[in-house]
Amino acid sequence: MNHQYDVVIVGAGLAGLRAAIELGEDTRTAIISKVFATRSHSGAAQGGIGAALGNEEEDHWKWHMFDTVKGSDYLADQDAVEILTKDAPRTIYELEHMGVPFNRTEEGRIAQRAFGGHTSNFGKAAIKRACFAADRTGRVILDTLWEKCLQRGIDFFNEYQIMNLTVRDGRCCGVTAYELASGTLHHFHSKAVLLATGGAGKIFRTSSNAFASTGDGMAIAFRAGAALEDMEFVQFHPTGIYKLGILISEAVRGEGGILRNSEGERFMERYAPTIKDLAPRDMVSRCILREIRDGKGIDGKDYVFLDLTHLGEEVISSKLAEISGFARTYAGVDVTKEPIPVQPTCHYMMGGIATDTDGRVMVDNQDHTISGLYAAGECACVSVHGANRLGCNSLLDVLVYGRRAGRSIRRYIHTIGLPPLSGDDPTAETAAQIAALMESTGRERSGAIRSEMQKIMMDDVSVFRRGETLVKVMEKLRLLKERCGQISIQDKGRCFNRDLLDALEVGYMLDLAEAITLGALNRDESRGAHFREDCPDRDDEHWLVHSLFCYAGPKAAPQFLTKSVKITDFEPKERKY
Ligand code: FUM
Repeated sequence: MNHQYDVVIVGAGLAGLRAAIELGEDTRTAIISKVFATRSHSGAAQGGIGAALGNEEEDHWKWHMFDTVKGSDYLADQDAVEILTKDAPRTIYELEHMGVPFNRTEEGRIAQRAFGGHTSNFGKAAIKRACFAADRTGRVILDTLWEKCLQRGIDFFNEYQIMNLTVRDGRCCGVTAYELASGTLHHFHSKAVLLATGGAGKIFRTSSNAFASTGDGMAIAFRAGAALEDMEFVQFHPTGIYKLGILISEAVRGEGGILRNSEGERFMERYAPTIKDLAPRDMVSRCILREIRDGKGIDGKDYVFLDLTHLGEEVISSKLAEISGFARTYAGVDVTKEPIPVQPTCHYMMGGIATDTDGRVMVDNQDHTISGLYAAGECACVSVHGANRLGCNSLLDVLVYGRRAGRSIRRYIHTIGLPPLSGDDPTAETAAQIAALMESTGRERSGAIRSEMQKIMMDDVSVFRRGETLVKVMEKLRLLKERCGQISIQDKGRCFNRDLLDALEVGYMLDLAEAITLGALNRDESRGAHFREDCPDRDDEHWLVHSLFCYAGPKAAPQFLTKSVKITDFEPKERKY
């Protein structure tokens, strides 16, 4: 089936929805999503969205910029961070006017709370900067933007899996998607495509991410010629529920929650004397694991306690209702009486599809682009988070850069017509790919390959890494990729064929896992979330650069390039908190 639109957006999370709104009612826009739109992973964001409103205490966008750059371990591009932090207050008021029900101060202003790494006066003390709606901030913003999109008549294609980009003569002119309910292929012919497909946390065994976070958009763009940037920087959120990885928001620590080891000690006081439990996530995750390695995990196991028993029922019910439900349901804990068992969980990809500050997708380190192709949100790397993202900067990123991508696409589509498609069937390549999988008589199952990949990545490419182990991981991933070629599909049906989707997803994740591992291996220093035990120091002389990965074919490891970091205001310094 063929469709024609001005713009196709892949992904119905906040970046995609915000871009769609910006495109305006005179733009024919389709949003394709592999899940029902309001089930997008943005809805799982809990604790808040950062902006220097100064509603609770004095604040300035430049302080926010400094914290973001320092939090990134100086790898973020500072021109992009300036755009992000300057535009943050406007973004919040825009959401307020759209109807987002933020919590309020007693005077009726938007309430704000503390989050990790956010400080006043260039690092002097923790500051309240995160605007929030209890601990359901992503949920309420997603619902609000979705309603706006419905009002504007944007067409949603829910439960459609993106399969391939249509790129002709260096220009993107559509996508092929697979309708999950019927097994039918659809081609969406358009002037421009925006990828807003979210992250890839499911590469790791323990993750706070939704099942759909398998990096499809990143991998498909990569295979079509887009460069991936800074893939080795993977964020582990310090407080996932023990064994399950379900997120317990940093807002808990922002409201005064405390991490304790088996001796009941508030151990973060030793590691970050100024901001303690509110140090950036990369540091807190490492500290938790160091306590565990030192035998101070609870009951000798690999978790610590997050204690909020002292916060009182009023704070918990008005500001932390969601996580208290999660703790009750998934850990059997009443948070008013007992601490929550927590351990680091894979939460966020700092890396992604390389873009400029207008969302244009880059193919190399020379500013060449694929015209008509844009990316925004977690699947993109602009780069505002560098080597480590600060909490509550992700919702901000998706909204600021989703809007900017929408604006830039709007300008672009007014200069061109619908690109011609030559006589060939644009879905033919995808149809052949699906037929080959459905007819394969190989003996491999995608579930087994996925579990092995997740275990390898968790054991050897998560919070702590070592060069010699990473070499072995590269080889193991290569073997897993070979085994992928032998996957057979047991379900021969066309209706919601999960077996087929699992096979596609594991292929996407393996491509990305290889880029993550290659980046971690090449970068023989430690910076932000990338910590090499065999090279524990930051090395600005050699590695104050972005990593870029270019596709080199299904059997080869990616080509590795570097790109300079844009430094405008803040020269790199040692990161102390
Ligand atoms: O902890 C949290 O609520 C997560 C926020 C974020 O990732 O920005």
